[in-house]
Amino acid sequence: MPETPEETEEPIKQRKNGLYPGVSDELAENMKTGWADTELRGLEPIAQAGHTAERRAALSARFPGERLVVPAGNLKTRSSDTEYAFRASTEYAYLTGDQTQDGVLVLEPRPEAHGGHDATVYLLPRSDRENGEFWLDGQGELWVGRRHSLTEAEQLLGIPAKDVRELTAALGEATGPVRCVRGHDAAVEAALTDKVTAERDEELRVYLSEARAVKDDFEIGELQKAVDSTVRGFEDVVKILDKAEATSERYIEGTFFLRARVEGNDIGYGSICAAGPHATTLHWVRNDGDVRSGDLLLLDAGVETHTLYTADITRTLPINGAFTDLQRKIYDAVYEAQEAGIAAVRPGAKYRDFHDASQRVLAEKLVEWGLVEGPVEKVLELGLQRRWTLHGTGHMLGMDVHDCAAARRETYADGTLEPGMCLTVEPGLYFQADDLTVPEEYRGIGVRIEDDILVTEDGNLNLSAALPRRSDEVEDWMARVKQD
Ligand code: GLY
Ligand code: MN
Ligand code: MN
Repeated sequence: MPETPEETEEPIKQRKNGLYPGVSDELAENMKTGWADTELRGLEPIAQAGHTAERRAALSARFPGERLVVPAGNLKTRSSDTEYAFRASTEYAYLTGDQTQDGVLVLEPRPEAHGGHDATVYLLPRSDRENGEFWLDGQGELWVGRRHSLTEAEQLLGIPAKDVRELTAALGEATGPVRCVRGHDAAVEAALTDKVTAERDEELRVYLSEARAVKDDFEIGELQKAVDSTVRGFEDVVKILDKAEATSERYIEGTFFLRARVEGNDIGYGSICAAGPHATTLHWVRNDGDVRSGDLLLLDAGVETHTLYTADITRTLPINGAFTDLQRKIYDAVYEAQEAGIAAVRPGAKYRDFHDASQRVLAEKLVEWGLVEGPVEKVLELGLQRRWTLHGTGHMLGMDVHDCAAARRETYADGTLEPGMCLTVEPGLYFQADDLTVPEEYRGIGVRIEDDILVTEDGNLNLSAALPRRSDEVEDWMARVKQD
């Protein structure tokens, strides 16, 4: 459907001198009036408003006296007047709880005597009926849906709201030090070109990444919701494996996506629906292959909640419901490695400990099976197991699937686990179809098991424990789910 109200040849967006082609003065006048007042009054703040206020206060304390600019980002054109689905920047959503395209959070430093900052969220207000924007512009509310008024947004977010169309002029006039989160809004960055430096902006990005490492109660609740929906999505997939066999991996992708869109905002990342040898391709998202009885399915998928927290879970399932002896041997080795990894997740442990624990188990198995020559210590020292283990054993999880990615090495990879951190533990073994160094029967088998683990005061909590992991329990679960 084109966005022009009539099938005119000239797109409405090409407005000339304020006039739209194909719109009579009478129609333009007619469309201005006769609309009900739909302002929403007495709105309650969003559930996380208290938490976002605390996050802004911490940000304010870290950068005293500086103007801080955090954009949500803009729509990206797919073709012509069609855009890609919008997903607000993590930094903006984390600090405001809002997800509106073109939104910008600005923290304005107060005069020194008072200290701190005043936060303002700049948003597109309701569509103007007087100038016809609401029905003639492609981003008018008649085309894309009602927006919140600035007053409504203030009540919901607990942040004063202003018209975003005033922002670039205001930024242009601003004096004093400014920092901006880059990569989301080219117009905002252009307005700040002369006022910011890449190095100082990077410090802001790093801070906002590190600030998210420890999750608050609201975030932990959202992560659990994401995991719970993902568990249901995995059950959905088990139920339709026969249909996937009759079609392709796409049936699995579509089935999981349905759960993600019905219960959440979206998938948190491209679902990896890897049957047979595709399981050895770490980020197999083409999902266009055959699904065959007797093969394994490696399903790595996560639902993203409406507040943008994602799960990241992998199960490797026997498509016909029962592992072969070799599949089970490899699966059980990965399970053992995951158990060792999860056991190493506790407050005070080094971040690397769970990776090292998992890698040691996998190296031991590879030596035991005669795939690599021992001793295990030498294999680990030279990293020889990595031909088949391929990737790190986990990562921080939160609003981004690879959360806190801009954090400094000393606070992340070389850091120490603290209660409230959430991470994945996801060892795997992958024998490529063309790997001539392993016996033929291993080739084309890939196994990963991935769970979402919260660091607690005295150890850890597996948020995804509802999804069975042990090979016999996986088989029992599949049989049960198929019968439901
Ligand atoms: N889903 C990508 C990963 O597990 O890191
Ligand atoms: Mn992961
Ligand atoms: Mn994953």
